[in-house]
Order: sequence, then structure tokens, then C-alpha cells
Amino acid sequence: MKTVEVCLTPDLIQHFNLKGKVVIVVDIFRATSCIVTGLAYGVNAIYPVATVEECKNFKKKGMIIAGERGGEKVAGFDVGNSPYEYMNDEFQSKDIAVTTTNGTQAILKSIGADQILIGAFLNLRAMADFILDSNKNIIIHCAGWKGMVNIEDTLFAGALINEIKATHQPSGDSAFMAGDLYHFHHMDLLHAAHNSSHAKRLAAFGIEKDLDFCMEMSLYSIIPSYQDKKITLL
Ligand code: MLT
Repeated sequence: MKTVEVCLTPDLIQHFNLKGKVVIVVDIFRATSCIVTGLAYGVNAIYPVATVEECKNFKKKGMIIAGERGGEKVAGFDVGNSPYEYMNDEFQSKDIAVTTTNGTQAILKSIGADQILIGAFLNLRAMADFILDSNKNIIIHCAGWKGMVNIEDTLFAGALINEIKATHQPSGDSAFMAGDLYHFHHMDLLHAAHNSSHAKRLAAFGIEKDLDFCMEMSLYSIIPSYQDKKITLL
């Protein structure tokens, strides 16, 4: 059996040994859901960057720039952080640079792993199938919110653990906790996710439709992978 660990927030990632592992980064609300949607709709590559300034530098090179701070689109950016904004024919075969409060930071903090993949409920089945065949130890890296644990990313971790139990056993208390949280809520994940603090934050902006979309299961059979500073399809 291989192992699956769960890092509940990027502030804990320094305690994990990334070497030799596949890291799956997840930020259900909404960064990794946007990345999966964008690539599913034909975006060529997504460049995750840490700061608003770095993103603006990509704009100077003619690239589309996307992202948020505090859940709201950054002033002067082309795109915010809604998966619906990525369903845009004009983005087909284009490159997009993106910076978000937590999701892009979690991706960058995963550097050092053998492979970095981007997960969401939107590609859960494809991700599970890939891991079942991979024969690699994995870490699910939850983006959380500003160093805090969140419900929706932990639910995803539990759901993925459940899907890969034939080949991967949970390792560490956070993996068991994620599994337990998922089993407690699996009959109504949407309701559980709507109770999360970030869902309430986003609902205050009137964007509940984003939340419902991000909780859709396995709409896309794609695996986005981060390598050489960009995310492309595996
Ligand atoms: C993040 O990376 O923190 C998020 O995706 C925030 C958001 O919902 O826009």
C-alpha cells in the first residue's frame, strides 16, 4: 500500500517531506476550481504567481491576468476568480497569469515535490483514477484561508482519500480527520461547504452560483500539472 497524507494549510507544509511525493493542491473556493475549469475550456497554460505586482508584469508582456485579494477581483486585472469567467472562448489557447490569496500560494509552496497536480471536485474522478494507477505516495495540500484550516478543502481531501482507498492508506492524523469529516458529510457535501467561512465571505459578494459550481463532481476528466512555472494539462 502507498500512503496519502493531508496538509491542512500551507502554513504546515514545512512539516511534510515533499521529496518523492505527488502533491495535489486544492483550493475548492475557488482557485483550483478556476484552474481546472480554465484548462477544460481550452486555456493553454496558467502561470500562478505570488503577488499582484508579479501578475502585472505578465500584463506588460501582453498576457491575460487574473486573480483576487480577499475574494474580490484585483483592480485593473482582466479576470477575477470565478470559474464562470474562465468559460470564455477568447481564452482558448491563451496563457493566463494568476495570483490569489491562498490557492496560488499553496501551489508555489509545493515546489520540491516530484509532481504537483491541481485538484478540485470538478476533476475528482480523473484525479482518483490517476492516483490509483500511479504507485506513488501522495500529499493533499489544502490551501485553506490565510493559514487557517477550511471545511471545503478538507472535504475534498476526505473525498479523494475515500476514492483511492484500494491503493493508498491514510497516514497522519490530518488524513484520518479529513476522511472522518468526509464520511460525516458525504450525503450532503454542498450543505457542509455552504457552512464554511469562505462560502459566507463569498456569499456576501452575491456569488453563491460559484459555490454551487465548485461543488459539482467530476465534470472534467483532466489533470492539470504544475511544472516549469506553469500549469498545463498532463
Ligand atoms: C484563494 O486563492 O484564496 C481563493 O481562491 C479566494 C477566492 O475565492 O477568490
